[in-house]
Amino acid sequence: MPRLVKKTAHGPHQVGDKFICMCGLSKNQPFCDSSHLKTLKENEDKLYWYDEEGKPEEVATEEDCEDECCGKCSGDCCQEDKKTK
Ligand code: FES
Repeated sequence: MPRLVKKTAHGPHQVGDKFICMCGLSKNQPFCDSSHLKTLKENEDKLYWYDEEGKPEEVATEEDCEDECCGKCSGDCCQEDKKTK
């Protein structure tokens, strides 16, 4: 079962001489592999999806659904819409 986890960190947490990945993108979990550098260009007001190759895609947010459901964001209306399809 897939699982979406929201991560907002843009860098690692240092424990002794180790750097623990806090962004969720490292291919060497739980350690940082510098993949967090990809997050530095993110817009704080947007939500991003990273594919298996680590390429980011901007995802619509609830605020994008002002007058009618966009059918693709993380807002309640779109999530309900997906359940009915
Ligand atoms: S904090 Fe995730 S790769 Fe560096």
